[in-house]
Amino acid sequence: MVTVPDRSVVSVSRVYQDACAKLGDDWFEYENLHLNWGIQDHYEVTRKVGRGKYSEVFEGIDIRTNDLVVIKVLKPIKKKKVKRELKMLQNLRGGVNIIELLDVVRDPQSKTPALVFEHVDNLDSKLLYPQFTDGDVRFYVFELLKALDFCHSHGIIHRDVKPLNILIDHNQRKLRLIDWGLAEFYHPGVELNVRVASRYYKAPELLVDFTYYDYSLDIWSLGATFGSMIFRRDPLFHGMSNDDQLVKIAKVLGTDDLWKYLDKYNIDIDAELEAAVGAHSRKPWGRFVTSDNSKYMSSDALDLLDRMLLYDHAQRGTAKELMQHPYFAGVRAAEDVRRREGDQGVAGQGGGGTSNGEGGAAGGGGQTAVYFAGEDGEVQVQRLS
Ligand SMILES: Nc1ncnc2c1ncn2[C@@H]1O[C@H](COP(=O)(O)OP(=O)(O)O)[C@@H](O)[C@H]1O
Ligand SMILES: [Mg+2]
Repeated sequence: MVTVPDRSVVSVSRVYQDACAKLGDDWFEYENLHLNWGIQDHYEVTRKVGRGKYSEVFEGIDIRTNDLVVIKVLKPIKKKKVKRELKMLQNLRGGVNIIELLDVVRDPQSKTPALVFEHVDNLDSKLLYPQFTDGDVRFYVFELLKALDFCHSHGIIHRDVKPLNILIDHNQRKLRLIDWGLAEFYHPGVELNVRVASRYYKAPELLVDFTYYDYSLDIWSLGATFGSMIFRRDPLFHGMSNDDQLVKIAKVLGTDDLWKYLDKYNIDIDAELEAAVGAHSRKPWGRFVTSDNSKYMSSDALDLLDRMLLYDHAQRGTAKELMQHPYFAGVRAAEDVRRREGDQGVAGQGGGGTSNGEGGAAGGGGQTAVYFAGEDGEVQVQRLS
């Protein structure tokens, strides 16, 4: 293969550019991370719950408290990557809707680290998402935006947002963003590896080898997840390879905007990929509406989707901006009510907000009915051509 010099334009995030610089070297330097190993005997494995690319995951109990925990035993991977995942988890601990790392122990046989997490009683997204009401989707996407705004504002890109890495305990209306194994610190002007995220959730910048991406990568992946929720189409863009992934995207979003995007940043793609992509018009979302998914449709939902799924990463809404979208008006109003009730009712209990002051919904429970006032049944299928 001939390597052509990269002539692409350096792009810098619209927001939180200097988050890492402001937080200081200790925040983002992870190679010298020092670990205090916990005691393996405190945990007993009960069953296997999952298997990721980089780990085997077990359910277990903390025998001191009888609490359910989850133990992620890492497969043999580079020390540096292990340290990075741990650094992310330690940095983000206590953040809104971020999975909580409880302990780090060492597997006696393999000597590889095992991470102990809070347990989330999660149902597989393939079973869970079809059960969602329109109000549920709004609620959980809002919770995801809180988690993303939290990590982005702390200089961290998740880089693997997808349903498997989003755990939802629907009974408790608790959402946790997990799997910080691919997360990376953002530094403006520093090139990043494009071999991240899972194919169906990969943003165009990754598929065209653009290395100056930023937090907005996560917004695309969230858009692909949100789109699959509201269209009941899993995945939304079903590529057979990385190149085909871009083809699948182009068949929906059209090629005009793709060429504009490549021009804007001076991105070259090879002739083979260009030929595979071909020429396509933009398809109206209305084409994907069926009797099964029409209950999730509204002009607000589709407008939100459009603000996430933009080729041009710089044009995508940021997590904070998207949280102000009209689609979430009911969710925000319900939070306000709950916050007011919390302020009046539980004064002296240390405040109702989460540790980062966002007043998140985590751990609330009890008053969930109020969340959906005025939201359910708001089915507007108009304005879809
Ligand atoms: N805290 C948790 N509670 C419940 N299940 C979990 C938890 N953490 C991980 N899992 C399960 O294990 C799977 C793999 O974990 P993950 O951290 O994503 O590992 P990998 O980096 O290997 O993908 C998840 O998709 C999920 O099904
Ligand atoms: Mg995972």
